[in-house]
Amino acid sequence: MDKHQVTFQPDNVSIEVDHGTSLLKAANLAGIDLASTCGGKGTCGRCAVKVKEGKVQDEAKGNLPPRLRKSGQVLACMTHVAGDVVVETTADTRLREHRVLTGNKGLLAEKQVDLLAGNAFQPLVKKLLLTLEPPSVTENASDLTRLEGELRKITGHQHFRIDWPVIRNLAEHLRQSDWQVTAVLADYNDEPQVLQVLPGHDRIPPYGLAIDVGTTTVVVALVDLESGRVVDQAGTYNRQSRYGDDVISRMIHSTEENNGLRQLQEAVVSTINDLIATLLQRNNIHHTRVYLVVSAGNTTMTHLLMGSTPRYIRLEPYIPTFTRVPTSSAGELGLNVLPAAPVLNFPSVASYVGGDIVSGVLVSRVAESEEPVLFIDIGTNGEMVLGNREWMVTCACSAGPAFEGGGIACGMRAMDGAIERVEIDPGTHDVRLSVIGGGKPVGICGSGLIDCLAQLQTAGVIDRAGKFQHDLPTPRLRSVDGDMEFVLAWASESGVNKDITISESDVQNLLRAKGAIFAGIRSLLHMVSMEMPDISKVLIAGGFGNYLNIHDSVAIGLLPDLPPEKYEFIGNSSLKGAEAALLSKPAWLKVEELGRMMTYLELSVGTTFMDEFVSAMFLPHTDLSLFPSLLDQSSLKKASNL
Ligand code: FES
Repeated sequence: MDKHQVTFQPDNVSIEVDHGTSLLKAANLAGIDLASTCGGKGTCGRCAVKVKEGKVQDEAKGNLPPRLRKSGQVLACMTHVAGDVVVETTADTRLREHRVLTGNKGLLAEKQVDLLAGNAFQPLVKKLLLTLEPPSVTENASDLTRLEGELRKITGHQHFRIDWPVIRNLAEHLRQSDWQVTAVLADYNDEPQVLQVLPGHDRIPPYGLAIDVGTTTVVVALVDLESGRVVDQAGTYNRQSRYGDDVISRMIHSTEENNGLRQLQEAVVSTINDLIATLLQRNNIHHTRVYLVVSAGNTTMTHLLMGSTPRYIRLEPYIPTFTRVPTSSAGELGLNVLPAAPVLNFPSVASYVGGDIVSGVLVSRVAESEEPVLFIDIGTNGEMVLGNREWMVTCACSAGPAFEGGGIACGMRAMDGAIERVEIDPGTHDVRLSVIGGGKPVGICGSGLIDCLAQLQTAGVIDRAGKFQHDLPTPRLRSVDGDMEFVLAWASESGVNKDITISESDVQNLLRAKGAIFAGIRSLLHMVSMEMPDISKVLIAGGFGNYLNIHDSVAIGLLPDLPPEKYEFIGNSSLKGAEAALLSKPAWLKVEELGRMMTYLELSVGTTFMDEFVSAMFLPHTDLSLFPSLLDQSSLKKASNL
């Protein structure tokens, strides 16, 4: 087959590929990650690039807005290489570093109390200094028997797992150090595992990794298992994003592409390994000093990390291969820490309520509350748990990628250049923006979109059904290709030399996303015969949740109309739960029970969710009595206008 050279600018990176390779695949091979929300199906329009030189095929295919096509752009996923080509990528189509929610860094031992969520400080790995009796002709038990005997004496456990790599050098280590050794013990179940035997008194603390494997971002925390200190954290986008933004695109890629499952597993493992390398280098720690990994992710991410097909999660009746995950080792998964280090995964509840939610429930102590608490993690899927110490119900509703910028013409994830706050003057329709990183805007992220929706309605630009008011006296409102749009930033003010806009189709996508979340909350309440005011507290988890403006979220009908003091942002609770498990055996042992306690509500069964969803497709809702504080405000407004 003919080979061609593809050069990507501005990086000036070249790669040789087969004739007919898509530009998206060529970019991936060249290590350039382009946004590809739809996973290369030609429908999302996010992978637009410009072919500067050379011959390509199929460049007219796919769903690219006419004005971008006119400007010479093509979809990288649809366009195929037919000769040597030079391709220009633009800032708004590149995956860039996300605003990654970490937290807890540098936590001091005294403050562990919050992180441990009320559990005892009992790390899953500890070091034991052992002094063995030297053998003699009358005391001639093997070295291994001698080691096991001493471990039994010190720990009270009867059986230990000791694998061959530990035994191989045991004889030398014992004799070199005059029968004094340091055993590193992983203690997370009934049979502790000896991970290493080091000569003499080894004083370097044991380390563990807590990992939040998100569909969008991956965050790794390096934890000192002796002091309980979170030494450092690092996060970046999940490299699987090159195969699609959401779990559905990844599932499709894993089953429909040759080697798709392997590619996805390698992508997430390489993402984690790069973060591990950064953390270990930054803190001058050798990889063999990391003895345990605890990972929390949604059900699909956990399947992909373990190299198991998520195929049947997507197909009715939506069955995962597993919910409880057998322990594996770092060596088996290809993680660059001590190969024998156990890898523990939080169990899932169901196909769309995963270990990340169980981890969040652990650390936020939902299962210890007297009063009903609503835990909610908003992303592509809105996952939520309602419950207290006696019961918990959970569901997941497909909000779509709108809050992560997907399916929105100028949408993007929360990274530098994203508009995160919007203010629209109701009189002049002038716009004030706040941009992540402080530079010029290149797009708008979830929190900005929520603000934008609320502000468009308050300023009278859209009505309660999300329809634009055609007759407003502002040049910001215009019709393009039959779709109304409002200009948030003019090309001259933006970092991408084009207007940043929000269109009527974008607004409809946002209405669907917020409608799905609110309908999910109402469905859970319906299941336990409760009403909104019965919720004592709303815990908002996740990277996106942390930047939400509660007032605007209530105003658009995304979140329940409850007093602001009932809301609490709990940050990356998936990561915090994994850290808590690393530091506390009782916490880890509690995890499975939590998963079992949650009753899963499948929203596709029955009509409750659909009915609620249809009612929630207005701003804020068809039933305004559900939003009493907004009613109060509008009556106040009316009264002041009299
Ligand atoms: Fe190319 Fe979606 S249109 S990745």
